[in-house]
Amino acid sequence: MQPTAAETGRTSQGLAPAKMRDREFTQFSALIRQRVGIQLPPAKKTMLESRLHKRLKVLRLDSFEAYGSYVFSPEGQRTEMVHLIDVVTTNKTDFFREPGHFEYLTHTALPALRARRGDRFEEPLRLWSAGCSSGEEPYTLAMVLAEFAAGHPPFRFSILASDISTRILEAAQTGVYPQERTEGIAIGLKKKYLLRSKDRSRGLVRISPELRARVVFRRINFMEDHFGLSEKMDIIFCRNVIIYFDKPTQQELIRKFHRQLRPGGYLFLGHSETINGLDVDFVTVGSTVYQKQ
Ligand SMILES: C[S@@+](CC[C@H](N)C(=O)[O-])C[C@H]1O[C@@H](n2cnc3c(N)ncnc32)[C@H](O)[C@@H]1O
Repeated sequence: MQPTAAETGRTSQGLAPAKMRDREFTQFSALIRQRVGIQLPPAKKTMLESRLHKRLKVLRLDSFEAYGSYVFSPEGQRTEMVHLIDVVTTNKTDFFREPGHFEYLTHTALPALRARRGDRFEEPLRLWSAGCSSGEEPYTLAMVLAEFAAGHPPFRFSILASDISTRILEAAQTGVYPQERTEGIAIGLKKKYLLRSKDRSRGLVRISPELRARVVFRRINFMEDHFGLSEKMDIIFCRNVIIYFDKPTQQELIRKFHRQLRPGGYLFLGHSETINGLDVDFVTVGSTVYQKQ
């Protein structure tokens, strides 16, 4: 049910761009910090204000005060939070982003995990792309793992890809990308795993159905106590995510990842992220690569 005008403060008057007051910014940033973990320092006020203008327009609200009343109402909590989260998340990503990690995977982590298991591959190796954005990271993992599996039978794997943003997950699931976004993929892999759209003028490619079938997408919020995952993971990629979180949130999340990994499992963070200074039980084994003992 749509909120009433009285509930939302909605107006049908002409809409001049609203100004966000410091008090409103403080309320929104506290809500975002609590629900998503992302910190928004005061310097981000202009960014939040301009990004939220679109939401005010859609909801036909003329002030951030009215938006605040809506977003904090039970109705707003149910329906608007998802949009607010979309507005504050940064989705920048790429195929084969930070390529050294995929080299490490192929030449060090996968052989080590395989040696640990011997031929016991009834249970697939489980990977998790946590904070997968529009899918480039999990599809890169799927290519790397499919190549490794082809050279090392019997070897089975499964990939879970999660994000908090439902909008970005929908895009990820389609597996369609502008051709220029796939430049980081080696030509041999492109030939195997990408399909060109029939209409060449559109300049789009799609991940092949076989590769798409290797990735399961799911909405998971890192702020949840348990991620709702019954299986332990062998490898977690959580790159370029914790950089937006404050130290206590980072600490808590890295601990939960530790709990979610099998002994010998790996955690990959982004190159500008670190566990230094956090009280967690990982051993550094590569550049922003950590292993559970
Ligand atoms: C910058 S992208 C990183 C994408 C990819 N991992 C990479 O390194 O290219 C960060 C992603 O983390 C997601 N994210 C942010 N806060 C989150 C939370 N609390 N729970 C789950 N995902 C979150 C965002 O929606 C966004 O898609």
